[in-house]
Amino acid sequence: MTISKLITVAVAMTATALTLSASEPKEIFEKTCSKCHGLDGKGDTKMGKKLEIKDFTTAAFQGTFTDKQAASAIKEGIKDGDKIRMKAYDDLSDAEITGLVAYIRALKK
Ligand code: HEC
Repeated sequence: MTISKLITVAVAMTATALTLSASEPKEIFEKTCSKCHGLDGKGDTKMGKKLEIKDFTTAAFQGTFTDKQAASAIKEGIKDGDKIRMKAYDDLSDAEITGLVAYIRALKK
């Protein structure tokens, strides 16, 4: 293999690795969602307390929404009248949202 071919392969592999890691649900949750929902999903954060976020680790809260409702909450956000409680994450792909819903379900103890 020539050097330039090797470089092309290396660049392609790096690009694949980046795309994969960008869509890891755990990574998205920890980076984007945890400031309100907490790293463990309990909502035990400053923002979580202010917004009175319920605990994802409880069956009681998990039972209040279906997978479909969870997905649309992520995609479209949650509003209380005109007030935004959770912003819409419409820049996430459907696959990323499906992954996040599964991740949230797995937080249940
Ligand atoms: C600004 C704070 C904030 C951030 C950031 C945030 N959320 Fe929320 N989220 C809320 C609030 C407030 C609720 C309403 C919760 C409640 O009733 O306890 C909520 C509820 C939810 C629900 C339940 C939906 C339902 O129908 O009740 C899901 C699922 C959810 N969030 C997922 C996410 C995901 C995934 C992310 C990251 C991409 C995220 N949230 C980021 C504030 C936030």
